[in-house]
Amino acid sequence: MKQVPGTDLYPNNHTTRTVVMTETNCFAYRASILHLLDDPGIGFVPEPEHAEFIPDGLLVVQDGKVLRLGKTVDELAHLPTGCELVDLSGQLLIPGLIDTHIHYPQTDMIAAYGEQLLSWLETYTFPTERCFADPVHAREVADFFLEQLLRNGTTTALVFGTVHKASVEAFFEAAEARQLRMIAGKVLMDRNCPDYLRDTPESGYVESRELIEKWQGRGRLSYAVTPRFAPTSSPEQLEKARELLNAFPEVYLHTHVAENLREVEWVRELFPDRRSYLDVYYHHGLLRPRSVLAHCIHLDHQDRTCIAETGTATAFCPTSNLFIGSGLFDFYANRDHGIRTGLGTDVGGGTSFSLLQTASEAYKVTQMLGNKLPPAQALYLLTLGGARALYLDRQIGNFAVGKEADFIALRLDGTPLLARRLQLCASIWEKLFVLMMLGDERSIAGTYILGRKVAV
Ligand code: GUN
Ligand code: ZN
Repeated sequence: MKQVPGTDLYPNNHTTRTVVMTETNCFAYRASILHLLDDPGIGFVPEPEHAEFIPDGLLVVQDGKVLRLGKTVDELAHLPTGCELVDLSGQLLIPGLIDTHIHYPQTDMIAAYGEQLLSWLETYTFPTERCFADPVHAREVADFFLEQLLRNGTTTALVFGTVHKASVEAFFEAAEARQLRMIAGKVLMDRNCPDYLRDTPESGYVESRELIEKWQGRGRLSYAVTPRFAPTSSPEQLEKARELLNAFPEVYLHTHVAENLREVEWVRELFPDRRSYLDVYYHHGLLRPRSVLAHCIHLDHQDRTCIAETGTATAFCPTSNLFIGSGLFDFYANRDHGIRTGLGTDVGGGTSFSLLQTASEAYKVTQMLGNKLPPAQALYLLTLGGARALYLDRQIGNFAVGKEADFIALRLDGTPLLARRLQLCASIWEKLFVLMMLGDERSIAGTYILGRKVAV
């Protein structure tokens, strides 16, 4: 870790200079700054070359991208003319958080009582998703959902819509209006679901294709071909998904796998010729770079090898896996196979929009399996590792010069308990750990998109 001597996380003995401009595309943020340059490994203190912590740093953003990063004392001399200096002393800047699996239409059914996956879908999820045939409803929920993400410090997410094309139109319009980097797709679901949510292999293909042609690569948006999960897509529909991926190699594939034991058993009955649940997706050509699989709990060595070799990524969704009683994601088995991984809130199976809270639950899940999740590794999953899982690390994930300036400012006094506990922490890694264990949206002082504050 590059550490700047002689300063601490609470720099307050400085003078600041504010250049007031009527309109500027350049901002210099003065704060403590922390980001990762590579996978920090699994020690409590990461390898020095994999993390950079600047206790009194300056992040200079021009035209929405990182222009410079360094010690304030060095950088002030290089400020471009007209650049506005913003003093965030006492706050900790980190890259924007990345949620690798979430359902925007499930916002209004978060915290639904008493069911496990299959009955939870029947009882709560399908009736809730039915309402997204109405584009007005869809847009209202999309707006609320995105505001929840931003106030929680999430700046990029991989998002399920519903089976309705209108749900994805509404989502992309809401994301475009905020200039967010978002990935989303229409659910494909042609069997084992209510009639009111069923498409067909052909209609699902045509509507997905229309959405891709309109939205893929528009601004900061990308499309994900989104078969809900193997039980609700016929082999014909999975073949149509393959056709879409072949026709549009730049799009994503987003689905669920091996979440719940009854689900796994059901897939065995529906696809008796396949070696495993994972093999259903492999057989239909759905595993490749930019494929993301949520949950991945009930897998074996061969499945994990296949995930790693195909460049597929996994989304670790601890609050959901605990809340709907699915099981424990084996982070170290995943890691030992070299699988790309991010964290997902999986709202509404998950119980929080906060990726800080999600990291806290991830830590507890690794503890249940006799391991630990160090704070630097958790930060990696939430930022650069999540970006690598989504093959977006050329655009986002840290403060490398030229990347898009999506970041958040964490406050150290989000609650009285945090203020008290953080004062007792000796190192930045202890502080980060406590922020993850105890923090939530109250710890977010600001969320910045393309260098401009948009929330809190
Ligand atoms: N498997 C299929 N659909 C869903 C869903 O909406 N949420 C979760 N957690 N798992 C699923
Ligand atoms: Zn999900």
